[in-house]
Amino acid sequence: MSKLQAIYLKDYKKPEFSIKDVELVFDLYEEETIVTNIMNIKKESDSAKEIVLDSIDLELKELWLNDVKLGESHYSYVDEKLTISDVPAAFRLKIINKIYPQNNTELEGLYKSGSIFCTQNEPEGFRRITPYLDRPDVMSVFRTTVIADRKKYPILLSNGNKTQCHDSFDERHGVTWFDPHPKPSYLFALVAGDLGSVNDEFTTASGEHVELNIYCDLGNESKCSHAMKSLKEAMTWDEEKYGREYDLEIYNIVAVDSFNMGAMENKGLNIFNSHYVLADEDTASDMNFMGIQSVIAHEYFHNWTGNRITCRDWFQLTLKEGLTVFRDQSFSADLNSREVQRIEDVKGLRERQFVEDASPTAHPIQPESYISMNNFYTSTVYEKGAEVIRMIHTLLGEENYRKATDLYFESFDGQAVTTNDFLWAMGEASKVNGEAREDALGYGIDLSAFELWYHQSGTPKIHVQEDYYNNTFTLSLTQKVPNAVDGSEQKPYFFPLKIALIDEDGNDILEKTLIVSKETEEFVFDDINTKPTLSVNRDFSAPIIIEQDDNDYSFLMKHDKNSFVRYESAQSFAVETLEAIMNGEEIDEEFVAAFGYLLDLDVDLSYKALLLELPTISTLMQRQKVIDFEPIYEAKEKLAKYLATTYKEKLLTLYTTNHKPLNQDIDSLSMGERALKNRSLRLLSALESDEIIDLVSKQYSSSLTMTDRVVALDILENITELLSEMALSDFYSKYRDDTLVMNKYFSTLSASEREGTLERVIALQDDEVYDEKVPNLVRSLIGVFARNYKHFHAKDGNGYKFLADKIIEIDTINPQMASGLCAAFKIYEKLNETNRMMMKGELERVVSTQSLSKNVYEIVSKILKIN
Ligand code: BES
Ligand code: ZN
Repeated sequence: MSKLQAIYLKDYKKPEFSIKDVELVFDLYEEETIVTNIMNIKKESDSAKEIVLDSIDLELKELWLNDVKLGESHYSYVDEKLTISDVPAAFRLKIINKIYPQNNTELEGLYKSGSIFCTQNEPEGFRRITPYLDRPDVMSVFRTTVIADRKKYPILLSNGNKTQCHDSFDERHGVTWFDPHPKPSYLFALVAGDLGSVNDEFTTASGEHVELNIYCDLGNESKCSHAMKSLKEAMTWDEEKYGREYDLEIYNIVAVDSFNMGAMENKGLNIFNSHYVLADEDTASDMNFMGIQSVIAHEYFHNWTGNRITCRDWFQLTLKEGLTVFRDQSFSADLNSREVQRIEDVKGLRERQFVEDASPTAHPIQPESYISMNNFYTSTVYEKGAEVIRMIHTLLGEENYRKATDLYFESFDGQAVTTNDFLWAMGEASKVNGEAREDALGYGIDLSAFELWYHQSGTPKIHVQEDYYNNTFTLSLTQKVPNAVDGSEQKPYFFPLKIALIDEDGNDILEKTLIVSKETEEFVFDDINTKPTLSVNRDFSAPIIIEQDDNDYSFLMKHDKNSFVRYESAQSFAVETLEAIMNGEEIDEEFVAAFGYLLDLDVDLSYKALLLELPTISTLMQRQKVIDFEPIYEAKEKLAKYLATTYKEKLLTLYTTNHKPLNQDIDSLSMGERALKNRSLRLLSALESDEIIDLVSKQYSSSLTMTDRVVALDILENITELLSEMALSDFYSKYRDDTLVMNKYFSTLSASEREGTLERVIALQDDEVYDEKVPNLVRSLIGVFARNYKHFHAKDGNGYKFLADKIIEIDTINPQMASGLCAAFKIYEKLNETNRMMMKGELERVVSTQSLSKNVYEIVSKILKIN
């Protein structure tokens, strides 16, 4: 089948044509849209005779070459390619075609979200709008006119600055937009609708005024203020930290309800999933507020890392995404709690990326091939990509990193480049007169050795051995690098490893960033007068798995000054304790005592809430050779109950002192109080006593924040059927008209550990509020269920069957959503025999489905190791 052909990085060829500028006219109607596309095209290669334009499902009306209408003998349209033969060295090509946005359920190209026309063109959506050289290394200047019914679509938007309004016709009107910055087609955007907005302004460091607008459905304007505040914070931060200013007169953000992803950085016209824009104290949780701040910033930061400098081809995706995630993580760390941000980022990396990296879908942050590019917006490209940039930052140090990014922007502004170009800039800044510089760390930085991080997959394990003798501490490291998915051997990595040696009072004797580059390596520290404790991979300086022979988790969780290692030690100690329970051993009292110590700590409250969190099911599952969920759930329940019993009074005190039901503020202290008291409440809920249930019910009914309400709802759902039914129906009747809040309702039920969850999920599909065409709802009902290990992996196989049915069904509506749902099957190989065989049957059923999309085919065939 030709559509399943893989695309290879090694086959990259420069485009044979360039498009200097393009003029687009969109005539939007209720049934169809007429697109007029006029391109000034130039041959870039003498040998090129015909031009091949990308073009999916387009109804061609007219083709004109330099004002001569082309007959059908001059072009062919087959297999998503429009080929025009015998074209001159430079020409004007005019194409008129028809599309049907109202029928577009894939949500790629031009589509309708409710009554709003909007676009999503990354990576290859533009070819569903009009024929084009739809690849990121073709950059052109766009002028766009949007024409539509004046009443239904008073707001007409596209990229760049507004240049003209056309009011000459009665019922219809038009607006022309001009974007002076050349850009690839994936950054093109259009919006038309009857929208409300909030407006503000920003003055750049060089004194340019920028108009800021956030558009949303009418009535939601008051929920946009946090997003607006975040946008201004992001603009200021990029000026201060990277010296980057905004470059247009206007910055527009539009919130839509139907969106496959989180948000999109279209030049001057970001389009957002409303989940990442709309928030107020009554309907959004603290996590939602934080998410908005970081996603608004992320898309804003793309203006320089993605738009001004873009990717040469889609294999370079991490060039913009890894870097921009690193930038948004740094931004959030600067504005909020650095320690909490780091832990959350690492948690996310391990839950998603480590699982992917240990599966047959593992790939380098710069992949070598793909069938559907949509499948490569992965945790590996994004989150591991960000870790790779972070390591560069650590290796260079703040000052040289800034010099390096300045050089990157100077050298490549306006171009479509590769990760090697980026690494070149990083390397230049680490040199003095062409030689590797003795930098702040005291090492020359060999970025050519570092390059392996872009081309290898899998998470390296670093075995750590310590020896202390005669005042000398010796650290021996061995790298175990897993084989690639195809079985080939991979090389040891080059990375920074931040360590410290700690004395018995908890003080650092020394802290050092070691440069590790060989398979086995020894670091010797002299003049260490007492036996130290090792603190390793501080701040998670490299995305690796540490295996330690000796460890003193109890000491480190009490005394390490590095907030990350302290957290890590608490987690590791809990993991060890839980694994012992799973092996039939008694609960380790030393862990229980250390946990008690944490309860009394006087530290940042959000950080404390993290210290008190028991390891996730996923963490424990990843350590099993053969995955079996039951013992994990049992051990966790047992330990939680024991801790709650032992520390009931302390936990109650933590709860009552931090529970302020009327406080709706979202400053870090208020959020910290909520995080800590909710952590305490969750631990206490293991007691399942009337006293605790009473506290939870009170919190549900009296608290003014969504954070508190959702936590209470979730606890009730898991421990008391009767009260949860009451709370749930109360919640439903209050929020049934607010889909963003209803997502929380669906996900609470889908994540429930209570008996009968699958049956209720099945029934909820018939709820009036549920709509299979809205990605957020699918994610919160079906996607969340697929991560409910208890019920998804139920021994009767019904969870697998349900998900497989949904994937097959949703694939006909929205292949990108369907292949996203396949993620839950990635652990297939590691499952116990019973579950694995049942899952195999379902995966085989999916992959043999008639006219399956290439998106789903690619993922499932990799999981099953077909071909
Ligand atoms: N460029 C992406 C959006 C995108 C990805 C569009 C894939 C189409 C296909 C955007 O910058 C992005 O990365 N969005 C993330 C959120 C971000 C904060 C990590 C998303 O949508 O999940
Ligand atoms: Zn991005």
